[in-house]
Amino acid sequence: MSAGAGLQEAPLSTPAETGRLPHMTTSNRIVLSSDHAAIQLRQAIATHIAAHGWVVVDIGPTTPESTHYAKHGEAAARLVASGDCRFGIILCGTGQGIMMAANKVKGIRCGVCVDTFSARMIRQHNDANMLSIGARVVGEGLALDIVDAFLTALFEGGRHATRVEMIRALEG
Ligand code: RB5
Repeated sequence: MSAGAGLQEAPLSTPAETGRLPHMTTSNRIVLSSDHAAIQLRQAIATHIAAHGWVVVDIGPTTPESTHYAKHGEAAARLVASGDCRFGIILCGTGQGIMMAANKVKGIRCGVCVDTFSARMIRQHNDANMLSIGARVVGEGLALDIVDAFLTALFEGGRHATRVEMIRALEG
């Protein structure tokens, strides 16, 4: 059974349903972006999260020509940093380059995940607002599970808030 099918019975909570959004935004929008290496997986993720009530802001690209992950990572990150989108999900071949670009934008905490444990933990402990996935690293089923783990986990605050604040302080 695919991750998407399995979730039909236990849909992801949307921000509106949980009322547990952080104070800075009430957006239920998720921006998706990638480079040429991850168009198909990005579109599968878009379909999956839209089916679970999120508003998808897919900023492309849609054509397979080679492009530069840095500009796509930056564009997605700016929509999250501005509060227009609650989360960003970005992809390239490894997930690494586009993550590095996104993390250069002030206010962004983005992690590359190849497993569901890490995807959950970057929300619970690091208050990550962006997730990066490598389309040449993980298959679609695992990628959708990673997305679900990320979107259903909640930041725990407490001592973790102190540490996230220390990251913020590094931004100057
Ligand atoms: C593109 O070939 C590839 O370098 C890119 O998708 C990504 O893996 C970079 O980090």
